[in-house]
Amino acid sequence: MERTYLMVKPDGVQRGQVGQIISRFEQRGYKIVGLKMMQIPREVAEKHYGEHAGKPFFQGLVDFITSGPVVAMVIEGKEAVATAREMMGATNPLKAAPGTIRATFGIDVGRNIIHGSDSVESAQREIAIFFRPEELVDYGRAVDSWIY
Ligand code: TYD
Ligand code: MG
Repeated sequence: MERTYLMVKPDGVQRGQVGQIISRFEQRGYKIVGLKMMQIPREVAEKHYGEHAGKPFFQGLVDFITSGPVVAMVIEGKEAVATAREMMGATNPLKAAPGTIRATFGIDVGRNIIHGSDSVESAQREIAIFFRPEELVDYGRAVDSWIY
């Protein structure tokens, strides 16, 4: 079953949006298999956002993502990567479709509430950056047999 890496960014934590954001994925039917609050060390943030190194917003992005605690999670379920991206909405909350997480909770591209992996390969890379294998919990849910 596909997994993706999601992270409520420091703005979402500061604004008390963590529960509402997690709820959306639970309500949809996704299974949380990893969940923790952490403050990201600068080197880890630079590695996570390595594809953006050298871009004008890179330093500000790393400053921001390391500025306070984030809530890191791994969710599992059908087409988790693409569906989570759809549920998040466009990178710029002002351009995100109404009802998406970014449109509901934000208005600034540099404070866009949530991160989600952009491909299955990115998800595998990012999960490995933020979670040790033993932190991902293998469990069944009563509903799994009839949702899937
Ligand atoms: P990106 O990977 O392009 O977006 P996404 O989070 O939707 O995958 O960019 C990573 C983060 O960098 C993005 O969530 C917010 C920040 N960012 C800016 O601050 N300014 C920008 O112009 C862009 C493209 C991104
Ligand atoms: Mg991205």
